[in-house]
Amino acid sequence: MILAMAKRSFAVIILGAGQSTRMKSAVPKVLHPVACIPMIEHVVTAARSLAPTRTIVVIAPGMDEAMPPAQGVEYVVQREALGTGDAVAAAKSALKDFAGDVLVLYGDTPLVTSGTIEALLAARSSADLVVAGMRPADPAAYGRLIVGDDDMLEAIVEARDCNTAQRVIGFVNAGPMVMATAQLFDLLSAVDRNNVQREYYLTDIVGAARRRGRKVRAVEVPAEDMAGVNDRAELAHVEALMQRRLRLKLMRDGVTLLAPETVFLAADTRIGPDSTIGPSVLFGPGVTIGRNVEILGFSHIAGATVGDNARIGPFARLRPGADLGEDVHIGNFVEVKNSRLDDGVKANHLAYLGDASVGARTNVGAGTITCNYDGVDKHRTEIGADVFVGTNASLVAPIKIADGAIVAAGSTITEDVPADALALGRARQVTKAGAAAAWRKKHPKKKGSAR
Ligand code: UD1
Ligand code: CA
Repeated sequence: MILAMAKRSFAVIILGAGQSTRMKSAVPKVLHPVACIPMIEHVVTAARSLAPTRTIVVIAPGMDEAMPPAQGVEYVVQREALGTGDAVAAAKSALKDFAGDVLVLYGDTPLVTSGTIEALLAARSSADLVVAGMRPADPAAYGRLIVGDDDMLEAIVEARDCNTAQRVIGFVNAGPMVMATAQLFDLLSAVDRNNVQREYYLTDIVGAARRRGRKVRAVEVPAEDMAGVNDRAELAHVEALMQRRLRLKLMRDGVTLLAPETVFLAADTRIGPDSTIGPSVLFGPGVTIGRNVEILGFSHIAGATVGDNARIGPFARLRPGADLGEDVHIGNFVEVKNSRLDDGVKANHLAYLGDASVGARTNVGAGTITCNYDGVDKHRTEIGADVFVGTNASLVAPIKIADGAIVAAGSTITEDVPADALALGRARQVTKAGAAAAWRKKHPKKKGSAR
């Protein structure tokens, strides 16, 4: 906090109003998910961690409803996507009385870290305008940075506007910029659309600043933190980098990943220490896993909570609202949705538990299904503690099975079962002595047939 107070006060403008031309998508680019959340949310989080005075996100018309609600974030609308310079200008009236610095970030660089932003803010004391530069393996479509002999940044030339000599420059514009707020809007008024794309380029303020004798510097930041997403291939590249970052953090926090590169995490996945995650496990958003939990391979988990010492999988599916207590065992091909399973519950094979509550230590047999949907409404199944549900039972909800009851294998249960009762709901078996042999005699095996 002391550090933040010593710093100049600053506002952040995050640009997210561009068209998804290269994504070829009906969904605005910055809303495409990276680690299960809209990519722009990663940028907002990195910016907010440095406690800016204002955070303004520039969005396109109609995007406001899709934006994640975030405290202290203001949205302004850029009416038409006329370029990054025009997008920044959309924030002008919101910042008209703001006296501090302004930091511009692009919403399509979700790997940006608070460290990168801090380095930029720190460099502001040595220049009027600071631009983040990077040297990626491939300078690709990034704007080229033209640095003069005196180490001043003279201009940014967009890839499409480069001549042959400029195109080979490896030092490129990573996106972020910082300067005094009044100066930003003043420089923007000098920007025109005289370029290949007929857009107002924010990057043109660098040349404008130099023409006015301002000091402009480029600060090099790590290229892997500033990869931009413009098409689906870059989206996959950034997702891979984000996954690597999330996995490393988990491992450093005491979680074993047996085959880290095969585990997919959401930005908000929380896993307690001494837990072990097997190969090819996928976490969707909203998952909290306790300590010493074992999740075996090929499990798919989203919106679920798992207590300490539980064992999940292989091939388990925990869907939103699955709330598992301690020592719960969920085995292969078991699906749990919107259900509370108390401590020590076991459902080890081939079952569906949906809209249910299951008491402590209850055993759910293989093939058990909660029939929760009647075609119109969903209904609840309430199973008490220490219940034994036999193999292949269909529990037709709404239904209550009280503590200590036993449900016989193969039963279809449509009436409530009182405590400690045994419920059978199946046809009585008929056994006819010798009938199998008689049938085979009547149907003799043909030569070469399988039987
Ligand atoms: C931009 C930079 C380029 C830099 C690169 C870094 C410009 C002109 N070019 O290029 O120098 O190397 O980013 O990743 O700034 N946006 C709007 N409104 C618009 C246009 C864009 O809000 O009218 C937003 C987009 O949603 C996106 C960001 O601005 O989040 C960048 O736009 P994009 O079109 O991706 O710019 P690049 O061509 O990547
Ligand atoms: Ca971009």
